Amino acid sequence: MKAISYTRYGPPEVLRLTDVEVPTPRAAEVLVKVRAVSLNGSDWETLRGKPLYSRVGGPFRPRHHILGSDIAGQVEAVGRDATRFQPGEEVFADILSQMGGFAEYVCVPETALARIPTGMTYEEAAALPQAGAIALQGIQEKGHVQPGQQILINGAGGGSGMYAVQLAKLHGAEVTGVDNAEKLAFMRSLGADHVIDYARENFTTNGRAYDLILDLTAHHSVFAYQRSLTPGGRYLYVGGSMATLLQILLMGPLTGRTANKKIRLLAVRLGAQHLAPIVELCQAGKITTVIDRRYRLSEVPEALRYLGEGHAKGKVVVTAE
Ligand SMILES: NC(=O)c1ccc[n+]([C@@H]2O[C@H](COP(=O)([O-])OP(=O)(O)OC[C@H]3O[C@@H](n4cnc5c(N)ncnc54)[C@H](OP(=O)(O)O)[C@@H]3O)[C@@H](O)[C@H]2O)c1
Repeated sequence: MKAISYTRYGPPEVLRLTDVEVPTPRAAEVLVKVRAVSLNGSDWETLRGKPLYSRVGGPFRPRHHILGSDIAGQVEAVGRDATRFQPGEEVFADILSQMGGFAEYVCVPETALARIPTGMTYEEAAALPQAGAIALQGIQEKGHVQPGQQILINGAGGGSGMYAVQLAKLHGAEVTGVDNAEKLAFMRSLGADHVIDYARENFTTNGRAYDLILDLTAHHSVFAYQRSLTPGGRYLYVGGSMATLLQILLMGPLTGRTANKKIRLLAVRLGAQHLAPIVELCQAGKITTVIDRRYRLSEVPEALRYLGEGHAKGKVVVTAE
């Protein structure tokens, strides 16, 4: 089968279109024919090996040679002990811990798979798992957003931000989206009430405070975040710099507690099977998946470059040749 693989961290040029063996499912695995795979910030980070947390399991060289974690496709074959799915069924999954989606076929533990809901296309199903889980947990399950609250989403013009802005609006919040200048109109189109171009304004020094900061791309200090929260407010780190992550882990609980604020890492529970609430909102037409661009498997390097250079407004999806 064809796959896009790499053996060292670096820019998209290190990626190669290669021929590899179709994998054989182990006992509890399912072989999926990939129809669509969406790109996430985590693919870009694991391609380059930056921030350092993207090198978990492979400090010097990538542990997994094929990237791509949010897949949708058809069951091709099942392992000896995999009983939940039949060949031909339409399924989707987030396989961040093993990757392998930038290929014609991938083996997935059956516990990681869910059936594609009625009426949802492969592209929409591939767009949802990681970004949808981050939004659902960041806004609803751990963010506990209430009507009238002031919410700031840093990195709101990206994949997770696209769902998070819409979900926060559905909860009745007043939403501020922060991202690059190219994405301001896009964030407004999702429902953001206020938008900030991060190159022109630092939201941690503008004198405003928020009930929730959902940080998809954290680069400020723990003290800057503390200052930007209302009393009782909550800050959730999703992704960003290692220095900020270490500060949040080491100093967040204490710094926050003294001021009655919660400053934490959001460790996202990934898995298509946990997405039911956001799937329902998508099916009801209350949340829209915006697919900015589509690429072929052979074009994954261009697709990743487009995402990594900050042009993608919504999701970028790679579809089967
Ligand atoms: N905590 C967990 O359990 C967990 C699980 C899965 C994934 N993640 C993380 O989730 C993060 C977000 O993923 P995603 O797929 O939503 O990423 P994405 O689609 O790449 O979106 C990130 C957005 O942030 C923008 N951005 C970059 N620097 C910024 C800055 N200084 N200020 C404001 N915006 C900035 C980017 O645009 P520009 O590039 O143009 O600036 C982009 O629009 C990733 O870091 C990933 O590792 C965390």
